[in-house]
Amino acid sequence: MTHAVSTGPRPVTPVGIAAELLAGVVERLGDPGLADAPDDVRRDVARAHALVAGLDDYVARTTSPASSDLDALEQRTREVPWGGGLEQEMLSGHVEGAFLRMLVAVTGARQVLEIGMFTGYAALAMAEALPAGGRVVACEVDEQAAAVAREAFASAAAGERVEVRMGDAQQTLRDLAGAGDRFDLVFLDADKAGYAAYVDALLDLDLLADGALVCVDNTLMQGEPWAAGAPSTNGRAIADFNERLAADPRVEQVLLPVRDGVTLVRRVP
Ligand SMILES: C[S@@+](CC[C@H](N)C(=O)[O-])C[C@H]1O[C@@H](n2cnc3c(N)ncnc32)[C@H](O)[C@@H]1O
Repeated sequence: MTHAVSTGPRPVTPVGIAAELLAGVVERLGDPGLADAPDDVRRDVARAHALVAGLDDYVARTTSPASSDLDALEQRTREVPWGGGLEQEMLSGHVEGAFLRMLVAVTGARQVLEIGMFTGYAALAMAEALPAGGRVVACEVDEQAAAVAREAFASAAAGERVEVRMGDAQQTLRDLAGAGDRFDLVFLDADKAGYAAYVDALLDLDLLADGALVCVDNTLMQGEPWAAGAPSTNGRAIADFNERLAADPRVEQVLLPVRDGVTLVRRVP
């Protein structure tokens, strides 16, 4: 039984899920049957709830705002009746978009690759920070998601810097490598079971420019790698991927608890 009332997207981060669970506990502590719960337990639970429930809002409030183009794209994505394995919660959003935009700006990346574009939020956020002549190549397999993205890019100031590549991203990577393309920054956010193969392809096909940064999304996978009874397919895939990456001598990485986890990876010099 869940006690929290949610009006927006369902929580898809470890912190958001913990906040929802704790809201339920706080509510249950109001039940007459739990009237004997000690005050220090009530206080600690209330404090734990306040800590996690307010975190995302606080982070969002203290992060630079998104552009009106990105806000409009987020709103449009929420309105689409998704199906076929896609859902509005896939959208990366304000804070992660700001994080990626910051990475593009501070690394000076000119050639950016996104694997798993969905409706284009991260692609557009990164495009906004590109220098003149820079481009984002965004890979997507789903036509409905790509149609929403293309519509948004057509009216966005930075939209013309995004090049959409349709089809299975593994094939697109081979095509890009065949054309001699190399990337300064890669955002990996497609099918989780394919993550290891995407990283292998980036390294083996020489798609990474010198000093390139690979940014991998959802590497906390809603806490499943360490705190799930029976992990989902995606939870197992991410747990395996994280362990494989940690044991891979070709790269070094750091997992940051941004949203649902973002791992920054670079080839060991
Ligand atoms: C989590 S969403 C991406 C969210 C997006 N990065 C954003 O900023 O909002 C994952 C996307 O990867 C796409 N995808 C899944 N498997 C793919 C594949 N093999 N090739 C290309 N795209 C794929 C899905 O259709 C989906 O749109």
